[in-house]
Amino acid sequence: MATVLSSVQMDNKVTSYISKNRKMLINGQWVEAASGKTFPTYNPATGEVLARVAEGDREDIDRAVKAARAAFETGPWSRMTPSERGRMIWKLGDLLEQNLEEFAELEMLDNGKPLKVARVADVPLAVDLFRYMAGWATKIEGNTIPISAGTKFFAYTLRQPVGVVGQIIPWNFPLLMAAWKLGPALATGCTVVIKPAEQTPLSCLRLGELVQEAGIPDGVVNIVPGYGETAGAALAAHPDVDKVAFTGSTEVGKLILQAAAGNLKKVSLELGGKSPNVVFGDGDLKTAISGSASAIFFNHGQCCCAGSRLYVEKSIFDEVVEGVSAKAKKINVGPGWEASSDMGPLVSEEQLNRVCGYLESGRSEGAKAVVGGGRHGDKGYFVQPTVLVDTNENMKVVREEIFGPVVSAIPFTDYDDVVRQANDTVYGLAAGIWTRDIGKAHRLASQLRAGTVWINCYNIFDAALPFGGYKQSGWGREMGHDVLELYTEVKSVCTAL
Ligand code: NAI
Ligand code: MG
Repeated sequence: MATVLSSVQMDNKVTSYISKNRKMLINGQWVEAASGKTFPTYNPATGEVLARVAEGDREDIDRAVKAARAAFETGPWSRMTPSERGRMIWKLGDLLEQNLEEFAELEMLDNGKPLKVARVADVPLAVDLFRYMAGWATKIEGNTIPISAGTKFFAYTLRQPVGVVGQIIPWNFPLLMAAWKLGPALATGCTVVIKPAEQTPLSCLRLGELVQEAGIPDGVVNIVPGYGETAGAALAAHPDVDKVAFTGSTEVGKLILQAAAGNLKKVSLELGGKSPNVVFGDGDLKTAISGSASAIFFNHGQCCCAGSRLYVEKSIFDEVVEGVSAKAKKINVGPGWEASSDMGPLVSEEQLNRVCGYLESGRSEGAKAVVGGGRHGDKGYFVQPTVLVDTNENMKVVREEIFGPVVSAIPFTDYDDVVRQANDTVYGLAAGIWTRDIGKAHRLASQLRAGTVWINCYNIFDAALPFGGYKQSGWGREMGHDVLELYTEVKSVCTAL
């Protein structure tokens, strides 16, 4: 901690926030874990302990679910109008914006991402998400339905909140993932128990203070930090939780599903990916090259939608590989607080070992690193931006999600060849297409089995645009109008006239 604070001019609020053990939020109170335990969260740029946080467990989850249930059934929340809810969500966005610098620094310290990125991406996108969802609070409608059972009936649907929602989020965009989850839950009138990732609990906990400041009643948002196997598993299995929303690995997504089976709670999952990014020879190569580099290197490759399989038409393969490798070489790898850093460390030692393990496996199977290929430095969890060639479709580096700054560049011969290769994956989260042929672009966009397709761009996110996966990349869509379906039940009401 001392090294960070001496080498960077920190926001005073951040220094004081991380100087204390952080508690969990249950029923509007900041409390210790029932067990009294705490766990450390680390600064990934140095490997040092950043702060200690109350370690939630089954008992804390249970307390939090009780609070959320009471707030849903009988609390002031259940009597509030949609307009009142909408204004509180809007205020939450305003408060977040007012504290942008503090949140950007917390995110940088806990996750490792460059401060300059958190300032323009993570925090503003979270603000925007709350504002977008604030608008939906007053627009959740049912329909009137003409029914043929007879003319003497009047039938309509109501769209009602699903109830108490358990939300389990990852560490790659800690604040933004909290916003993606909380925004629609609040807009629809649900109550929440959210568990941040054990690697990055701080921004979500600080957001809890803003939830209170925004006037959102006690018990509506409960925040229980802790480990996945304990707090997370207890939340997913809890018999009084009506829905669980999860973002993380496909492996844990399957565990969530099993845990949810006990009371058949609703499940939405936003899971892993191995997204194809397709570059045709007829495109604007300069744009395609820089876009393909940022498709994989943004957030150090720790994006579920990272463009990690780069398919390039044979005629331009060498040129594109050279171009992306040149971009990789220019990336300044360093701690997030230095203005010169373009890429920070991976989030944890576990992720460092995982990514380096993939690099090793690629090497042993015959892949070659044109640039990068290993750890960067020997302090903190930094990895070199890496471009692999000479891969084949059976290699782990081509089939499995690496979740680091590592791209496999793969040549293709023609349109049909790339359709086959791009869809040859168990995942289906996102894809990129670079071409000037508009017909080909839209034809391919339709044929790719992925929840998001970017044409001549990549990593464009908007609160209004649904995001989620085909195949093993998940169930359901977050953001946009579509997310409201995940947080509501439809009730048919039929009246004899
Ligand atoms: P993870 O899936 O284990 O963790 C995500 C969240 O799930 C965390 O809050 C964690 O505490 C919780 N969790 C873990 N085990 C659980 C369980 N049994 N029951 C309930 N909740 C549980 O992901 P991890 O281990 O941090 O990263 C491993 C890999 O997962 C990464 O290398 C990457 O491939 C993938 N991943 C994908 C993400 C995405 O955005 N889709 C985000 C994070 C990781
Ligand atoms: Mg895990």
